[in-house]
Amino acid sequence: MKIVTCIAPVNIAVIKYWGKRDNELILPINDSISSTLDANQMCAKTTIMASPNFLDNKLWLNGQEENFDQPRLKNCLKEIKKRIYTDESKENIVNWNIHICSENNFPTAAGLASSAAGYACLVFALAKLYNIEGDISGLARRGSGSACRSIYGGWVKWCKGEAADGSDSLAVQLAPPSHWADMRVIILVVNESRKKHSSTNAMKTSMSTSTLLTTRAETIVPARISDMEAAIKAKDFAKFADLTMRDSNQFHAICLDTYPPCFYLNEVSRSIIEFVHEYNDFKESTQVAYTYDAGPNACLYTLENNVSELLAVIDEVFPTNAAREEYIKGIPVKTIQLSQDV
Ligand code: ADP
Ligand code: DP6
Ligand code: CO
Repeated sequence: MKIVTCIAPVNIAVIKYWGKRDNELILPINDSISSTLDANQMCAKTTIMASPNFLDNKLWLNGQEENFDQPRLKNCLKEIKKRIYTDESKENIVNWNIHICSENNFPTAAGLASSAAGYACLVFALAKLYNIEGDISGLARRGSGSACRSIYGGWVKWCKGEAADGSDSLAVQLAPPSHWADMRVIILVVNESRKKHSSTNAMKTSMSTSTLLTTRAETIVPARISDMEAAIKAKDFAKFADLTMRDSNQFHAICLDTYPPCFYLNEVSRSIIEFVHEYNDFKESTQVAYTYDAGPNACLYTLENNVSELLAVIDEVFPTNAAREEYIKGIPVKTIQLSQDV
């Protein structure tokens, strides 16, 4: 019997991935950029056991048994097995069945990148189990596109790549977390329920119905990617924030342009957007930026010296159920549970 346990963090995109040119290989239509949060805060934790005595493969997610025969899991395993070095003289672990048990310590399928942390963790654990070396972002990508970016810490770019087989559609680290050491993320949990439309399905509908989507990918994102890389390199918060908020808004405009539309933001999400703009106007400088993935929960980027005042104001404006404060070694995160009755 061999057992491995790993944790992997979520990543929050500032230039969003939305739309695939190949659904099977999970190849995106545009590059994307994110920051990977510290793994001790919001993470997936996955244990994989391999044993010659297991009669079948099994999978549990957040304590519930799930079907092992999922195409994405199968693809990850197939690709991983291609990279296993087998030594004939040893017992061949590759033929043993496995039991996978994974848990997220934050809401699953609520727009807080659970598929990113989940598949990055799964692939990382499998790579440890089978002693695979080298880049594994292309393997994580086969589980969920955004997962390839969680393989690296700090600021990460997923290059869409050009090759038809996806061999160059990989993640690269732009800068380690230490590069922008005073960057902070505050997560405002507006609703922790599972979203109505999974990212995968909604993205597919956007690809086939949104007329804005291709224009965004082809004519807007390339300049945004280079501007964002420059803003991160120069630690230019005002530029970073402007690009981040505009890109989040454009992504949600595409969700609205999808037919039938996907409404990921709710009243509270929208009031947080208004709050951020009012706060920055009041301060006469950009101190905070919002971004939303495919869900109603807000990710706020800000710098350490703004955190305490900003949290005090958020506390005044938005009723909270609970606040957790855990500062950590990557890009620190604070998670705040907002109450539903705003
Ligand atoms: P999110 O916005 O949370 O990323 P998605 O719709 O992209 O939501 O993906 C949610 C799906 O990701 C879940 O239904 C599940 O299939 C998969 N997933 C989430 N967490 C894990 C995990 N820890 N291990 C394996 N798969 C996971
Ligand atoms: C809005 O990676 O969850 O979070 O590749 O189909 O698994 P699949 O989708 P997923 O999509 C993430 C979309 C996003 C933006 C982003 O993370 O870049
Ligand atoms: Co996802």
